[in-house]
Amino acid sequence: MNSRHDIRWCDCSDAHALATAVASAMRDAIEAAVATRGTAFVALSGGNTPWPAYEALSHNELAWDRVVIIPTDDRLVPFGDPLSNVTATTKIFEPLGARVQPLTDATGSGPIADQRLRSLPWPLDFVLLGVGGDGHTASIFPGKDFAAAVDPHNPARALGVTPDPLPPEAPVARVSLTLAAIAAARAVAVAATGSNKRTVIERAIEEGSNSGFPVGRVLAAIPTPVRVYWAPQ
Ligand code: 6PG
Repeated sequence: MNSRHDIRWCDCSDAHALATAVASAMRDAIEAAVATRGTAFVALSGGNTPWPAYEALSHNELAWDRVVIIPTDDRLVPFGDPLSNVTATTKIFEPLGARVQPLTDATGSGPIADQRLRSLPWPLDFVLLGVGGDGHTASIFPGKDFAAAVDPHNPARALGVTPDPLPPEAPVARVSLTLAAIAAARAVAVAATGSNKRTVIERAIEEGSNSGFPVGRVLAAIPTPVRVYWAPQ
């Protein structure tokens, strides 16, 4: 169980400083994993915040052919759709030689997603999470799938999620890594901007494992120190 002192805020002056700091953390995690185990297996969040960090990371000379990347979650849309997280991640990292693995196939089925993921080198070495203004993280949202998504004993690593209500920025069904898969990672970081999200994350940390915010449940389940990278906008 993660107590408050295991959450380390990394306050950045602006979005550029945030991107630089997050890219450095990802680079270090990838280099350490490849040096230790020959492979780096990372899960990257979608949304808008992290893309400058991914761009900055892509400029590093790394053993990209040893890197396996999955989204922390994805929207159930065809590859190439503007809402597709794996499409955006593939465009940045596949040309470098990294292997980018979709969470699921076109059916979007959670069980298919979980089956497809079994062959990957679990546990994850690094997870970068985003946070929505409603406190969701990955695609763990309030709704009928919430209990299964945050069940620490759920053996599934991914599941289908129908947020209720559907988030306006991407009003589609999702597939998401589970709390259990995220919490088993060797390192987890969060990237968020703005005062509203800071308040949400602070409340979520305070509420811990009973938090009404999905991100609170997830952070409370992570046994390792979590760095929260934040910038004012
Ligand atoms: C997604 C993300 C999601 C995202 C948050 C924050 O697919 O939308 O994985 O969890 O990280 O919604 O998104 P912003 O960074 O755009 O605020």
